[in-house]
Amino acid sequence: MSIIERPADIIAKTGPSDAIVKNAWYLGAWSDEITHALFARRIADEPMVFYRTEEGTAVALADRCPHRKFPLSAGTLEGDLLQCGYHGFRFDTNGTCMSVPGQTKVPLSANVRSFPLVEQFGQIWVFPGDPALADAAKIPHVPWTSEWWSTTGCEPLNARASLLIDNLLDLSHETYIHASGIGSPEVAETPIEVERDGDVLWVRRKMFGVECPPNYAKSTGLASPIDRSQEIQFFAPSFYVLHVRIAKAGDTGPGFLSKVVYGITPETARTTHNFYGICRDVPRDPNQKPFSGQRNTVREDTECLELLERWIVSDSDNVPEVSIGIDRGGLLGRRIIADMVRKETAG
Ligand code: FES
Ligand SMILES: [Fe+2]
Repeated sequence: MSIIERPADIIAKTGPSDAIVKNAWYLGAWSDEITHALFARRIADEPMVFYRTEEGTAVALADRCPHRKFPLSAGTLEGDLLQCGYHGFRFDTNGTCMSVPGQTKVPLSANVRSFPLVEQFGQIWVFPGDPALADAAKIPHVPWTSEWWSTTGCEPLNARASLLIDNLLDLSHETYIHASGIGSPEVAETPIEVERDGDVLWVRRKMFGVECPPNYAKSTGLASPIDRSQEIQFFAPSFYVLHVRIAKAGDTGPGFLSKVVYGITPETARTTHNFYGICRDVPRDPNQKPFSGQRNTVREDTECLELLERWIVSDSDNVPEVSIGIDRGGLLGRRIIADMVRKETAG
């Protein structure tokens, strides 16, 4: 069922939480980050070691040797077996301990945890929670990163994931923080529509006859005035797609389409992997990357959110936030995630 949320419906006033939903699929890596070599990354506060087998299958194991807890990512690959760098325990791709030094009997408890993993569209998804709940049908369907001309990256963020979710669900900040790239006065002035469909949240804003921001002028050749629509699709708790259409004002054709994607993956309670990507509906050219000012945009947000994180932590005042109409998307996002956390905590 789909409902339109009005300000009066919004009850989530919990502030920017640092709780982590464990029973969810998270973007753990872009496919090109994982090779036949050990790669360490903490996802949802679970240390993981990733690698590909010789045949190319991606694997994620707990990055903690069951013997003396040495990080397995500091070991070596012997074919497809991961060998601990401290005393040489060997594990297969399921985390089963295949051998230990000095004895033929391998203790059953010497196995290491393996995480459910799905690779699709150039994305590697992992499930850090209860494996029995890892339903692959719940992974956000985001084909554009491999089917459209795209560029991707990952930027560390020293701030809790909820601050980045707030930021992305309220694009009015573009007018102020990203004025030299994608911002224009109309973004902050145009009201939004918010809609919820289960754990998917939509926030829509349509602008007509408005200024063409510098990055869009560069990527499309358009000049002001333009029609510009931003349709945010947020798959709680962690994946975000901004469906963008821009066109010469009044042009009813397809216009220029792009999908701006973010995997907002908690690393720890107060640090985040900011996976970002931009995908454009233009012919692929293997010799050229599409123009993208997204990395600058990401860095502008990073600077703002890291300052905010430090400020929140150092503020002992506990004065409640004030919210306005533009916050409806962000507040609803907080409420959906708070419900997920509550459900998990209640068992
Ligand atoms: S800590 Fe890994 S084998 Fe001893
Ligand atoms: Fe931003």
